[in-house]
Amino acid sequence: GHVDHGKSTLIGRLLADTHSLPIGKLDQVKAICQANAKPFEYAFLLDALKDERSQGITIDTARIFFKTQKRHYIILDAPGHIEFLKNMITGAARAEAAILVIDAKEGVQENSRRHGYMMAMLGIKQLVVVINKMDLVGYDEAIFHKVREEYLSFLSEIDLEPLSVIPVSAREGKNLVQKASEMAWYSGNSILEQIDLFQSRPKTENIPFRFPVQDIYKFTKEKDDRRIIAGTLDTGMVKVGDTVQFLPSEKTSTIKTIEGFNTPETKQSRAGQATGFTLTEQIYIKPGELMVPSSDSAIQVGSTFKANVFWLGIRPLVMGKKYKLKSGASRQVLYLKHIEKVLDASDLSTNTTKDQVNRHDVATVVFQTVKPFAFDTEGQFENTSRFVIIDDYEIMGGGIILENLTNSNTHTDDTIQKREFEWIRSRISSDARAQKFQQKPMVIIFTGPKEIDRVEMALKLEEDLFRMGKGVYFLGISNLLSGLDSDIHGRGVEGRDEHI
Ligand code: GTP
Ligand code: MG
Repeated sequence: GHVDHGKSTLIGRLLADTHSLPIGKLDQVKAICQANAKPFEYAFLLDALKDERSQGITIDTARIFFKTQKRHYIILDAPGHIEFLKNMITGAARAEAAILVIDAKEGVQENSRRHGYMMAMLGIKQLVVVINKMDLVGYDEAIFHKVREEYLSFLSEIDLEPLSVIPVSAREGKNLVQKASEMAWYSGNSILEQIDLFQSRPKTENIPFRFPVQDIYKFTKEKDDRRIIAGTLDTGMVKVGDTVQFLPSEKTSTIKTIEGFNTPETKQSRAGQATGFTLTEQIYIKPGELMVPSSDSAIQVGSTFKANVFWLGIRPLVMGKKYKLKSGASRQVLYLKHIEKVLDASDLSTNTTKDQVNRHDVATVVFQTVKPFAFDTEGQFENTSRFVIIDDYEIMGGGIILENLTNSNTHTDDTIQKREFEWIRSRISSDARAQKFQQKPMVIIFTGPKEIDRVEMALKLEEDLFRMGKGVYFLGISNLLSGLDSDIHGRGVEGRDEHI
């Protein structure tokens, strides 16, 4: 909600009225206020940091743990000030439901709309609108309906329908836990009743697994050539014997063991657990890949995708500039390729002709990464469908992937695409070159079993071609191993793909 519309007060009062505060906390904060000749605010209950208290605004997404008879909650208190939009989004990105607070007296404001739009964009479907500070408007039903109608018509434009709209006075504790006699005209739920009606999302354990590979640990002890693939399971469950694939490399294997860190041996690992796996076949994979079931049908691999993005950077998001994308465990170099539409959330006007995305704008765009990576599209896999964009070591924006627009996923195509991106072109075309040297350019790779003397064969061919007057150059694997490829350590199977 908009700044000062009463979000923190609502949470503070809810905690107080449900007796959720640590014993003595309420009195303690009241006493501090009195000692400083400052009027008590329920919002102070949440402000963990001192300087927040003095500024009177919440500057971080404080996490508040809270439980009702029905279930446990984590409440994130999102700041309303535009400067803190980033915190608001970080909080909101993990939310299953949202309460949007509007001051009855001030009515719908810029951030009421902007935040509503963010909810829609982040795919938060469970939204409750709270018209707060009803005490300031004499608990007037007509004013409630006026604000309600205005906001509902806005929400309908972005295809969002709230579960309910509740008139409250957070400060006075009206319609939070108890129904208010002052608003007898309202027959709907109180805040507490409403939040207990939120649907929990399906347990992440029950959906297919996503395991972003964070690291590979090698054992250096004699004969122990185990490799542990380490990370945290985002969703699902992995069992010993599961066949898995790694993306984007498309390598497959089978889970041999599950290695816990200082935990007893186990045969399965669940969403949320930091864990390590060993595989039955030794394959070469890198951190940043995504491990999914070998038969997964939802997972996408690609380098071009459509996304909803919100921009926080002071410098606008522009074409032709290199950005960094972070999604799952993957880090990618990213370019903005096309802007479909930019929405100015303050007045909700849509613009399809803009060539940049300004600070605080929300846009639908097409991005292209230099290398292909594995991702999900909007839906149940949050960590792998959402991303942040980094520029200058700072988060400048974030968003959610809507659609994979990559035409082909083959490794060769992607390698070529990557090269095309970064290659600085000569002005001489390859055709012109071929004509001039009277030869068709090509790379010939000599590969095969050790017994065959590949090097000798290649050297011989080089000589022959040279004698025929062709432009030819021999490149031995050792030249690569200690040169261009010196960062690739594996010599066996794991290195071979890379070297080729
Ligand atoms: P930010 O975190 O800065 O975005 O603000 P916020 O939405 O958390 O607002 P906060 O809860 O800090 O409340 C702002 C002011 O409104 C405080 O002075 C509150 O006492 C006052 N306020 C909140 N709820 C009510 C209410 O129901 N009635 C009245 N009269 N004042 C309220
Ligand atoms: Mg606040």
